Amino acid sequence: MDKFIIEGSKKLSGAVKISGSKNASLPIMSAALLTKEDVILKNIPDLKDINTMINLLKHLGCKIKKENDVVTINCSSINSPEAPYELVKTMRASILVLGPLLARLNSAKVSMPGGCAIGVRPVNLHLKAFESMDASISIDEGYIVAKTNKFKGSDIYFDIPTVTGTENVIMAATLASGKTVIKNAAKEPEIVDLANMLNKMGAKIEGSGTSTITVEGVDRLSGVEYTVMNDRIEAGTFMCAALITSSFIKMVNTPVYAMDAIFDKFKEMGGVVDVEDDSAVIVGGETIKPVNIKTSVYPGFPTDMQAQFISVLTLADGVSIVKETIFENRFQHVAELNRMNADIVVSNNQAVINGVKQLKGARVMATDLRASASLVIAALAAAGSTEILRIYHLDRGYEKLEQKLSSLGANIRREKA
Ligand code: EPZ
Repeated sequence: MDKFIIEGSKKLSGAVKISGSKNASLPIMSAALLTKEDVILKNIPDLKDINTMINLLKHLGCKIKKENDVVTINCSSINSPEAPYELVKTMRASILVLGPLLARLNSAKVSMPGGCAIGVRPVNLHLKAFESMDASISIDEGYIVAKTNKFKGSDIYFDIPTVTGTENVIMAATLASGKTVIKNAAKEPEIVDLANMLNKMGAKIEGSGTSTITVEGVDRLSGVEYTVMNDRIEAGTFMCAALITSSFIKMVNTPVYAMDAIFDKFKEMGGVVDVEDDSAVIVGGETIKPVNIKTSVYPGFPTDMQAQFISVLTLADGVSIVKETIFENRFQHVAELNRMNADIVVSNNQAVINGVKQLKGARVMATDLRASASLVIAALAAAGSTEILRIYHLDRGYEKLEQKLSSLGANIRREKA
C-alpha cells in the first residue's frame, strides 16, 4: 500500500489542469451498455474507479480500448448479465450497470453494493423504481436478481433525490415502452452530462438538472462520440489547497458553471475567486474566516467538499460549524486532523471547528476518498512532515494528484508504505 510524505508550509503557485469528472464518467460509461454501436468517450480521467468500471464492463462482455483520456466501448455482445461481488465490493457505483443491463437484456444479476466508510449506502430507491417499471427484483445470497419482460414507463417519486438512483432510472427509461416521469430527481450537473450524452444517442430526455425529469422510451440508441464534463470536486479540492497555504493558483478546464455553492462559501471564508472565462479561474487567499456550512443536494453545498473545507477551517480565526446532512458517517477525517493539532468536536453529525494557529505534521490514516483529500490539504499547511497512509482511497478519485501538487510547488512524494 502506498503512502504520501508531505513537507508542509510551502506556498503554491502556477496553473493546474482539472481532469474529467469521475462522477460523470461512471454513469456515462455504463450507458454504453444501452447500444450495440461504438461509444467514444473523451476527457475520461485515469482513476482506480474508472479502471474498475472498465473491468466490470469487460466482464460483462464489452470490448474496451483506452488511449490516454479516450475510452472506446462496444457492448454489441454482452455474454454475461452478472456483476460479481469481487468487482462491485471495490466500487459501489457498479450499481449503475443494473438499469442498462435490465433495459438491454431484460435480466441482470448485480451484487448488492456493500456499505462504505461514509455510510450504509442502501440502493432501495433504485430497486423500488425498477419494480414500478415492471421489473421483478429479489435478493439472493447478496445479489440483486432482476428480470423484466420489458421496462414500462412509470411515474416515479424518489423519497430522497438520489444521484445514482436518478441516473440508473434515466438509463433504464430510455429504452422502456412509454413515458417515465421522475419526481424529486437529483439535479447534479453530472446527471445533466449523462442526459446530454443519451440525447445525442437518440434518447428523449427532458428536464435533467431539475427535480422533474421526463423520458420518452425509444426502440434503440445509436453510438456516440462525447466529451465528459470536468470535475467540480477536484477543482474545489485545489481551491482549498490554495487558501490553506495562503497562495493563489490558476485552475484551467474548470466547470465554472457548476461551482456556485463552492465559490460562494469559499469567498465567505475569505477566499478570492477571479473568473477569467468559463473554464479558467484564479483562486486563493491570505486570510481564513470562520463560516457555517450545511451540506445539501445540488445546487446546495456538496457533501463531497465537506472534508476539504473542514481542513481549511481548522486554521480560521474563530469557530466554524459544519453540518453533514447527506451521509451518516462522513467525519472520519476529523480524528486524523485532530492528531495534526486541529481542534474539532463532532456530535449529532455536526462538527464544531475551533480555529488554531498552526497544524503540525503527523502520521495519519486515510479512510475514504474525500477524507484522504482533506488530509493532503491539511498536510500542505502543517509545520513539518506528514505521512498519509492508505492513499489507495485517494487514487480512486484524484488523477495524478502528487504530480499536479508538485507542479504547483508542493513538497509531496509517494512511497511504498
Ligand atoms: C453519489 O453517490 C456520488 N457518487 C457520491 O460521491 C456523492 O457523495 C453522493 O452522490 C451525494 O452527492 C457517484 O456519483 C458515483 P445518493 P450516491 O444516492 O448516488 C441515501 C465521491 O466522493 N439513499 O445521492 O450513492 C444515501 O444513503 C462519492 O465521489 C438511500 O437511502 O448518493 C444517502 O444518505 C462519495 N437509498 C443519500 O440517499 C437509495 O436507494 C444520498 O445518496 C439511495 C440513496
